[in-house]
Amino acid sequence: MKFFEGCTALITGASSGFGSEFARQLAPRARALVLVARRNDRLEALRAELAEKFPELAVFIYAADLADEGARAGLARWLHEQGIAVDFLVNNAGLGDHGDFETSDWDRVRAMIAVNVSALTHLTHLLLPSLRSSGRAAILNVSSVASFFPVPNMAVYSATKAYVTSLSEALRMELRDTGVSVTALCPGPVRTEFFDVAARPGDEGKTPHFESMPLFQVTPAEAVHAGLEAVARDRARVVPGPVLAVAVAIAMLVPFFIVRQVIQAGRGRI
Ligand SMILES: NC(=O)c1ccc[n+]([C@@H]2O[C@H](COP(=O)([O-])OP(=O)(O)OC[C@H]3O[C@@H](n4cnc5c(N)ncnc54)[C@H](OP(=O)(O)O)[C@@H]3O)[C@@H](O)[C@H]2O)c1
Repeated sequence: MKFFEGCTALITGASSGFGSEFARQLAPRARALVLVARRNDRLEALRAELAEKFPELAVFIYAADLADEGARAGLARWLHEQGIAVDFLVNNAGLGDHGDFETSDWDRVRAMIAVNVSALTHLTHLLLPSLRSSGRAAILNVSSVASFFPVPNMAVYSATKAYVTSLSEALRMELRDTGVSVTALCPGPVRTEFFDVAARPGDEGKTPHFESMPLFQVTPAEAVHAGLEAVARDRARVVPGPVLAVAVAIAMLVPFFIVRQVIQAGRGRI
């Protein structure tokens, strides 16, 4: 993990789950962290926790709704004004929506596309000049194992993550030889606040059936560690957890008409 010594990392979605964990795992090595999310109280609490443990570390917080294009531009302006040169961008903020597409709430669908797709793309576009000029930089996009297969009942979510994995792979090739690496972290279901946020009113706590897939389980800390290790090793993508990684690798060799049948048969379990 020497790669992260003295880095300046910007982490979106740092108020909970993977995002807070990225901050905790980078804190011992980074020079500065920029923590971004909407819930300022959570960011303040994380800053206080990190400042106490790592007095040398500079921790900046920036409360913003990343669904808002103007707020994203405002963040880039603020970084410029503060003289903060980001050399590690962690595009982690994201949300899901669990249930069939037809009955989905349009505002929620729009927010999901705005955060998972537009914010990730826009922030990458805004920060790329700074990343390039640092000589050696990295982008870690938090995608999902759902990016490899369509997921009924999370149709838009899995489509947004297919976009994230595809964009990451293409940018990685475009940016080859620029000193900027791009990695996609593709976790399976992990216990964070994600599924509480994704649940529709009345369905809280119903998804997913974590106990039915113990072999695939990793903790948020393990998923984040796998992502950081993949960046340090300049890997294109990583699926955290050896059993899930092998299962995905095998599933991707299976003809899609069979995969489609299996997903259809398992509909409703995820
Ligand atoms: N947990 C899983 O099973 C799983 C599996 C695969 C991939 N992922 C991906 O991992 C990433 C992190 O999810 P998580 O599991 O850590 O879930 P989480 O605990 O719900 O965290 C989501 C983070 O995104 C932030 N966020 C959401 N909407 C935002 C907005 N409009 N503006 C700014 N920040 C926003 C939230 O902050 P605020 O609410 O404070 O704004 C929060 O910090 C997501 O991209 C998710 O798709 C999760």
